[in-house]
Amino acid sequence: MWFKSITMFYTMRYFFTLLLVILSTLKPGLSSATIFNVLNYGAVGDGRINDSPAFLKAWKDVCKSKSDTSQLIIPAGKTFLLRPIAFNGPCNSNNIYIQLSGNIVAPATKSEYSGSHLNTWIGFSFVNGLIISGKGTIDGRGSMWWKQPCLGNPSPGTSCRPPTAITLNRCNGFKLKDYKSINPARSHITLTNCIKGIITNLKLIAPGESPNTDGIDISSSKEIQVRDSIIATGDDCIAISAGSSLINITGITCGPGHGISIGSLGARGESDIVEDVHVKNCTIIETLNGVRIKTKQGGGGFARRITFEKIKFVRANNPIIIEQFYCIKPMICPNKTQAIKVSDVTFKWILGTSLTDKAINLNCDQNVGCSNIVFDHVYVQSAVPGMKVFSFCHNAHGTATHTKPKPFCLLK
Ligand SMILES: *[C@@H]1O[C@H](CO)[C@@H](O)[C@H](O)[C@H]1NC(C)=O
Ligand SMILES: *[C@@H]1O[C@H](CO)[C@@H](O)[C@H](O)[C@H]1NC(C)=O
Ligand SMILES: *[C@@H]1O[C@H](CO)[C@@H](O)[C@H](O)[C@H]1NC(C)=O
Repeated sequence: MWFKSITMFYTMRYFFTLLLVILSTLKPGLSSATIFNVLNYGAVGDGRINDSPAFLKAWKDVCKSKSDTSQLIIPAGKTFLLRPIAFNGPCNSNNIYIQLSGNIVAPATKSEYSGSHLNTWIGFSFVNGLIISGKGTIDGRGSMWWKQPCLGNPSPGTSCRPPTAITLNRCNGFKLKDYKSINPARSHITLTNCIKGIITNLKLIAPGESPNTDGIDISSSKEIQVRDSIIATGDDCIAISAGSSLINITGITCGPGHGISIGSLGARGESDIVEDVHVKNCTIIETLNGVRIKTKQGGGGFARRITFEKIKFVRANNPIIIEQFYCIKPMICPNKTQAIKVSDVTFKWILGTSLTDKAINLNCDQNVGCSNIVFDHVYVQSAVPGMKVFSFCHNAHGTATHTKPKPFCLLK
């Protein structure tokens, strides 16, 4: 009897739950998504009035909302001017959805950045389950920052330090998709300390000559996928630096730009580790470098288990590089006995043309060296009629099969 009523209870509860699920799919009112439109918080969207206060007010409600999905709507047909702004968590919902249908522009003058100590124009911190998605454009209006004479200085003052367009710091389980970013003052996107994230179908665009406009900077982050995006910019299309692992990059068209880069590593000593990086099905067009691993002298970390496969180069300068003596200015980096270990690096199914004669450059340290470097089906031809391409190979160990120009320090 007792057993029967318990069974009955569960059966009824089951049907009741089922009913609720069915109802909630029929009637949006029952589903638990809550929507906050920036226009309801006083945002104007004329591209001139500072909409940051309105966005922050809306964000407060988005972040406070306990619903399953909390949505911030940035409506189409408008352009919102934002001064430097920090969207901070933690939030109550684990699905924070920002619908970027409208456009966002940065201030037109530097004075509108004053008082901000952010390294970024738009920052997200400690927001889990953040999705930014939509057809909007984010315009960093970077050109006024690019012209500064102090940019060549290795440690410029804050007034000279251009801000990244978007930074995600400690945002786990994020997704960035479908939008376009143009002309950032510095990088388009910087990821720091994020675990699990997907970047897909973005367009990151800036002039080839704009300084330091990396496409995507990934540091101290894990389990990140970057897919199906177009990156045409002034510096690295994607740069993966210390503390990053399990990074997959596929379907990227890169160029102009400086290619896809791991490093530079070596500034932080033992903790400079990058591992398990997979770059696949990418086209690299007229870039300064193609794919490279660059480490500085000194330090004791690793760059390991890195694969580049199915890469196509079109008139790239310096298509393939492993550099253990990386230095911005050759005179200021003395050679040291320590170096970052580079190992288990595979280049396979790579085709294309080089604008310089040094198509493959493996320049490794004699003490530490590069080990288990594997080339398989790598063919790089000259893009310049009459020019011959060659491989430079110094202290690299591993194998090269079906590869031209062959790195002679590798075994067959
Ligand atoms: C990354 O790619 C590797 C090799 O293709 C695959 O095994 C792994 O599951 C991928 N990881 C992610 C997070 O997509
Ligand atoms: C390779 O990347 C291109 C974009 O550059 C994409 O259109 C294509 O579907 C990708 N192929 C595979 C097999 O993933
Ligand atoms: C360090 O050693 C490398 C390889 O021998 C050499 O090319 C480079 O010029 C050296 N750098 C300095 C600053 O001595």
